[in-house]
Amino acid sequence: MDIKVFRTCEEASAYAADLVEAVIRKRPDCVLGLATGSTPEGLYAELVRRHQTDSLDFSQVKSINLDEYIGLTGDHNQSYRYFMDSHLMNHVNIDRANTFVPNGTAVDLEAECRAYDQKWLDLGGTDIQVLGIGPNGHIGFNEPGEILHADTHIEVLTQETIDANARFFASADEVPRRAITMGMRDIMSAQQLIVLAFGAGKAEAIARFNDDQVTPDCPVTFIKLHPNATLIVDEAAAALLK
Ligand code: F6R
Repeated sequence: MDIKVFRTCEEASAYAADLVEAVIRKRPDCVLGLATGSTPEGLYAELVRRHQTDSLDFSQVKSINLDEYIGLTGDHNQSYRYFMDSHLMNHVNIDRANTFVPNGTAVDLEAECRAYDQKWLDLGGTDIQVLGIGPNGHIGFNEPGEILHADTHIEVLTQETIDANARFFASADEVPRRAITMGMRDIMSAQQLIVLAFGAGKAEAIARFNDDQVTPDCPVTFIKLHPNATLIVDEAAAALLK
C-alpha cells in the first residue's frame, strides 16, 4: 500500500486531483466513487479549477457517492446530495442525471439500499473511489464494531460520529442518527482507492497503518487488503506513523 505524506492538505489535495484527473483523461466515461465531509473539499475545488482552466472534461463522467443521512432531503444544506452539487456538480460539465447519491428520504429504505447496490452494478463498478476517514476509523458510514456489512445498508451512527459531525449542524441534536451507506464490498471492489486524511484528529486512525492488522473495530484497516490503494495524508495526520 502506497502512503504519501504531504506538508499541507493543499499539496495533498492537488496530488489526489492528479490521480482522479489521470483516471478521467484515460477513461472519459469513468465512474468516480465520491465522499463528502471537509476532507475532500480541496480535491473537489482543485477538480473544478482544472475543469475551468485545463479543460478537464466531465461530460461523460458518472459518479456514485458513498452515503447519505436518513431524513434529509437533497435540498437540505447538510445533505450529501447538496454537498456534492455545491462543491462539484454545479461547477463542472457533468450530466447531473449521471450523479448518484442514496435517497435518505425514500419511503422504503431497504428497497433504496438494494436499488443502490444494483445501481453500482449497472454502472459497472467504480474506477476510482475517494475515501475520507472518521476519527474512529469509519469509511463511508461503516462504523467500527464486531462486524462490517458487505452490502449497502442502514447504519446507526456512533456517538463519536455524531459528535464529530455536529460542527456542520446548529447542535449535536440535529445530526441525523442514521445513514444509508455503501457496504465494504462496493468500496473494496473499486479499481483504485484513494484515502485522504488531514489534521491531528485523524492521527490515531492513521497510526493503524503501522501494522498489518485488519479489524472491524477500525474499518479503514480493510484498505490494507486492496491491491491499488493510496493513503494521502498531511503531516499532522501522519504524526503517529512510524
Ligand atoms: C462522507 C464519508 C465519511 C467521511 C468521514 C470524515 O461521505 O464517507 O466517512 O469521509 O466522516 O469526515 P470529514 O472529512 O468531515 O472529517
